[in-house]
Amino acid sequence: MSTANAAASVQWSSRLGFILASAGSAIGLGAIWKFPFWAGANGGGAFILPYVVFTLTTGLVLLMAEIAIGRRGRGSAVSAMRRIGGRPFAFLGAFAVLTSFLILAYYCVVGGWCVAYLAQSLTVGVVRENAQTLRNDFREIVSTGWINIAWLFSFLSLTALTVGCGIEKGIERVSKLLMPMLFVMMLAVIIRGLTLDGAMEGVKYLLSFRPEDLSPGAILSAMGYTFFSLSLGAGILITYGTYLPKRADIPAASLWVALLSIQASLLAGLMVMPAVFAFGVAPDAGPGLVFITLPMIFAHIPGGSIFAAIFYVCLLVAALTSSVSLLEVVVAFLHNEWRLSRSTATIVSFVLLFFLGSLSALSFGELSEFTLLGRNFFDFFDFVCTNFMMPVGGLAVAALMTWKAWPAMREELTSAKPLSSGMLSAIRVVLGVLAPILVLTTMYQGLFL
Ligand code: PHE
Repeated sequence: MSTANAAASVQWSSRLGFILASAGSAIGLGAIWKFPFWAGANGGGAFILPYVVFTLTTGLVLLMAEIAIGRRGRGSAVSAMRRIGGRPFAFLGAFAVLTSFLILAYYCVVGGWCVAYLAQSLTVGVVRENAQTLRNDFREIVSTGWINIAWLFSFLSLTALTVGCGIEKGIERVSKLLMPMLFVMMLAVIIRGLTLDGAMEGVKYLLSFRPEDLSPGAILSAMGYTFFSLSLGAGILITYGTYLPKRADIPAASLWVALLSIQASLLAGLMVMPAVFAFGVAPDAGPGLVFITLPMIFAHIPGGSIFAAIFYVCLLVAALTSSVSLLEVVVAFLHNEWRLSRSTATIVSFVLLFFLGSLSALSFGELSEFTLLGRNFFDFFDFVCTNFMMPVGGLAVAALMTWKAWPAMREELTSAKPLSSGMLSAIRVVLGVLAPILVLTTMYQGLFL
């Protein structure tokens, strides 16, 4: 049996399984860690509005296109794109795999922080009332090289183990169980956070739209965040789509993933921002924002330390479902294209990622002086992947499925349920014309003006 057939024969056990696994890839540290501090740094509403607009236009159609490529092309991102679009697109598929790989190089560092906070909550406890102490705690983890690397190692190991265990067992089971639990816990934190003194200032900051904050930089970040939060342009959904049965409805599944992801981001914002204002933390405090504010809310919840421990377990799983999806892309590539066995592919990726991830881990301490484009390694990887590589991957997907392989796209979109021809044309125009124009202008303005 060819590898492509082997991959195709393992299918999602249900449509819900696919939606949850895709949402599990989408909802992760992006929503919970990145959204609050990017929204905080880019003016709240001035970030959220373009983010929602990008998600419901560009994001939604690209989700459909990526899943369609996966189901149609069967195989890794590279072989699927080659099968549908020929050699040049295989190259673009490889670019998407590289993107996934580079995202992992810093994503695993943040995942490591989740492990660190979980470990602390189970031992010395993380619940503190004082913002300064919490800032110092966070600094100590991130700026002491070997500590940060040790946490990175633990998270990377968990990711590699899950991927080593295979699709069905690893991804689906875990995400089905703990994502809903995370959601419930976030609601509890939000309710407590909103009843703190001064909390409403945070809500106002988050939700009110101040046009003067709408800079090209903020719009670029909102676009980048859309790609990041939906896991677009990195071959993720192409790989996942491979396992989707023909009878599953791609437009409906995509809409679900987009809505769940917007919801998770907004909830994360509502979880963090009120506390930021209530406790006097700067909304643009950077990557530590969520780690500094949550323990202060936990301190105001009865049984806060137990709550914290359970919360960090869920957060860790949310992070894992995303990192697993990223590693899956890389492993599927090495397996299908380079004929490595899955376990060798996992080990090779692990070693390379540990090396590259260590550079990110050291960039808050020993390597903080070392900058590329004015950014340390960690910020550099994040900036380039989110605001440049993922959008470029998205453009390739859009070009492939509208200009080169529209009949295939149409067939995939309608395999479960017919769509009116007006709707199909609308999807084609948004995917082939509107989305590329939006992405290119935003990139041009944000990067060069
Ligand atoms: N969407 C994931 C998150 O929000 C991150 C991710 C990006 C996962 C790209 C896969 C691919 O955490």
